[in-house]
Amino acid sequence: MENIKSYVQQHKDRFINELIELLKIPSVSADTAYSQDVIDTAEAVKESLSKAGCDYVETCDTPGYPIIYGEKIIDPNLPTVLVYGHYDVQPPDPLELWTSPPFEPVIKTTDIHPEGAIFARGACDDKGQMYMHVKALELMVQSNTLPCNVKFMIEGEEEVGSASLAWFVERNQEKLKNDVILISDTGMISNQQPSITTGLRGLSYVEVEVTGPNRDLHSGLYGGAVANPINILAKMIASLHDENNHITIPGFYDKVEELSAEERAEMAKAPFSLEKYKNALNIADVYGEKGYVTNERNSIRPTLDVNGIWGGYTGEGAKTVIASKAFAKISMRLVPNQDWEEITELFTKHFTSLAPAGVTVKVTPHHGGQGYVTPIDSIGYQAANKAYTETFGVPAIPVRSGGSIPIVALFEKELKSKTILMGFGLDSDAIHSPNEHFGIFNYLKGIETIPLFYKYFVELSK
Ligand code: BES
Ligand code: MN
Ligand code: MN
Repeated sequence: MENIKSYVQQHKDRFINELIELLKIPSVSADTAYSQDVIDTAEAVKESLSKAGCDYVETCDTPGYPIIYGEKIIDPNLPTVLVYGHYDVQPPDPLELWTSPPFEPVIKTTDIHPEGAIFARGACDDKGQMYMHVKALELMVQSNTLPCNVKFMIEGEEEVGSASLAWFVERNQEKLKNDVILISDTGMISNQQPSITTGLRGLSYVEVEVTGPNRDLHSGLYGGAVANPINILAKMIASLHDENNHITIPGFYDKVEELSAEERAEMAKAPFSLEKYKNALNIADVYGEKGYVTNERNSIRPTLDVNGIWGGYTGEGAKTVIASKAFAKISMRLVPNQDWEEITELFTKHFTSLAPAGVTVKVTPHHGGQGYVTPIDSIGYQAANKAYTETFGVPAIPVRSGGSIPIVALFEKELKSKTILMGFGLDSDAIHSPNEHFGIFNYLKGIETIPLFYKYFVELSK
């Protein structure tokens, strides 16, 4: 532990500068305008892995963006840790809300990060957290303390649904064989209280299109006489929740796993301040499904949210028009036992049935994935908990997260191994938002904690 700390102290400036270089490349997977940058980022990751000590690295071509694979096999009889992460990032818009440009990383202090945080798109999700693993490998190789085999699989399409990764995993089961999968792409409670993510929600993401008249119409000449697609879409969306904020799609809750009173009481022990939560978001009150508290609404309960809605005239001034079409992007976060393809079908059937005769509705599924829950008595969980306990001075608390990493359920199915989610981000790090950042404290703590996971995982595997 002392050796780990002193290595990190000695090299921390370089660790920070290397991450800053990686953050300068705008690897936005959702927007083809950035495709060369995404590919350049893959190459930068590959180079960093060989520099850190992988004996073998490879750019694996896929139908989409490349997957970077790296490995260091020291003894086939020892356990193998497979590290997964993603080098792609979310689009940075709205640009005008960033206090510094998203791909020109700078270090600034915040109330929560008095020692400074790196501000850039991808700082926390997931370049910063992925790069902690590259630097932890360097540390273990340089100090001759790597206790087992390690494989890296870093992809470039996580933020758009990981389609190529699913393709790759199905075709490379032998190559990816491992004893545990380790991912840092989630968060923890606070810098004083580490937590280990034991659950992720599933996801069904769809786009809907409502079409009325065959062209945009004068809203005076036609208003009141034909269905206005935007009015109709708003009404259809509003009807998807009832007065208790339950989702009204028939069958939606049929397979939802209900937690026992004991499990809910256990969850309620995690530190949480509703006042702080409201203050941080500047809202007068929270809002959600009746019968559940905030920490349940955003983790163990399924949800339906509009992520974007458009149509008609949105330019300067006023234009009197009834648009021919209206659109929305809708996500449903799912919980264990809900099947995303089944939910997508239930949504499509119900949403289409809501339309009055004057419009037609088209539902296009985007992507989805199953939820995930992992037990806390596995060797991997115990090793992670020991590692956090050592570097933070307090044990980690198990927490089910509301976010999704759909590929984790697929890993379990295809590779038959458990995933340990060792996140070091904070909810306030603004992932997917303007001014995303990652605390220097968190980055360096991650690099310190990861080698201890390896150590305890190998010890507990004996
Ligand atoms: N790293 C996030 C997921 C996450 C963040 C899980 C924090 C738990 C805590 C990941 O990059 C992400 O954004 N996933 C998407 C889903 C994906 C299919 C686009 C999400 O959750 O919206
Ligand atoms: Mn991520
Ligand atoms: Mn993300």
